[in-house]
Amino acid sequence: MLDQLNGLEKTALDELHSLASMEALEAWRLAYLGRKGSLTSVLRSLGKLPPEQRPAAGRETNRVKLALEQAYGEQAAALKREQTLRQLSQEQIDVTLPGRPVEPGYLHVSTQTLCEIYAIFAAMGFQVVETPEVETDNNNFQLLNIPPYHPARDMWSTFHTTREGVLLRTHTSPGQIRVMRQYCPEPIRVILPGKCYRYEQVTARHESMFYQVEGLAVGRHVTMGDLKGVLTHFARQMFGANRKVRFRCSYFPFTEPSAEMDMDCIICGGKGCRVCEHTGWLEILGSGMVHPQVLKNGGYDPAVYSGFAFGMGPERIAMLKHGIEHIRYFFANDLRFLQQFA
Ligand code: PHE
Repeated sequence: MLDQLNGLEKTALDELHSLASMEALEAWRLAYLGRKGSLTSVLRSLGKLPPEQRPAAGRETNRVKLALEQAYGEQAAALKREQTLRQLSQEQIDVTLPGRPVEPGYLHVSTQTLCEIYAIFAAMGFQVVETPEVETDNNNFQLLNIPPYHPARDMWSTFHTTREGVLLRTHTSPGQIRVMRQYCPEPIRVILPGKCYRYEQVTARHESMFYQVEGLAVGRHVTMGDLKGVLTHFARQMFGANRKVRFRCSYFPFTEPSAEMDMDCIICGGKGCRVCEHTGWLEILGSGMVHPQVLKNGGYDPAVYSGFAFGMGPERIAMLKHGIEHIRYFFANDLRFLQQFA
């Protein structure tokens, strides 16, 4: 028994010192010290010895067990150290490699155009107010003089929600009602920017989602002259001091009278070209004096107060300014397009 133990100790230690990997080390541990290992089976067989031999054999077995465990610990530490040294010399991090640059972001061309519009109107005392994109039929249509049966609804094909009377706004004009009801009887000078939605075919100038910037001024003695002055100033700030504008009769149910503002074509200078369809003029926005009924719906007495309103599409403005041919580019997220405005 004792000879067997000493033989086992010697072979185990010889083997241990020749091990070169952590995997081999683990295999060794299982073979000698594991639950099914050789030393464990020696321990188990102690019971079969005659009683007078057991104490000595027990002591010897324990000594060998401790010796093997200690040797195992030392070998494990040595191997671990070796492995670390090997890794340190082989796996290098090249700190001189250039990093991956993080490109700074920039504003979308629609946002840039909006900011230019805000700045021009801010200088004239208009403040920016945002109003909801999901609107009631009442605000989007009825309070703007467009009852359900009104043929003017054909001008705004609409995305309806599953909730009766709730829709995606087709223009920013419902914001007029909201602002008037909030500020009445104070005078108002606001612009209302935001997204609008129309269920219609996408063409070069029409998308199913687009931005609008609405303007509204309400007060005592606000006249058509104010409307023309403000919008002419806007066009010249945006497109150049020499721009010519004209106001053309138009129709909107919520303004009376209504007018469309045209600007001389910036491509041909008014001579006539494809962009202006050979008229020499480009349509920029819709406008008019706030209809007395709409003023009333907003809480203002039309005998005392008057106002003007206008609505324009900033994508349209950006298209003219930058010579962009199709409105689809704005929301297609093609970096080749967007990065031109970085
Ligand atoms: N809401 C109108 C449109 O979407 C534009 C407009 C706004 C016209 C304000 C007059 C006054 O076509």
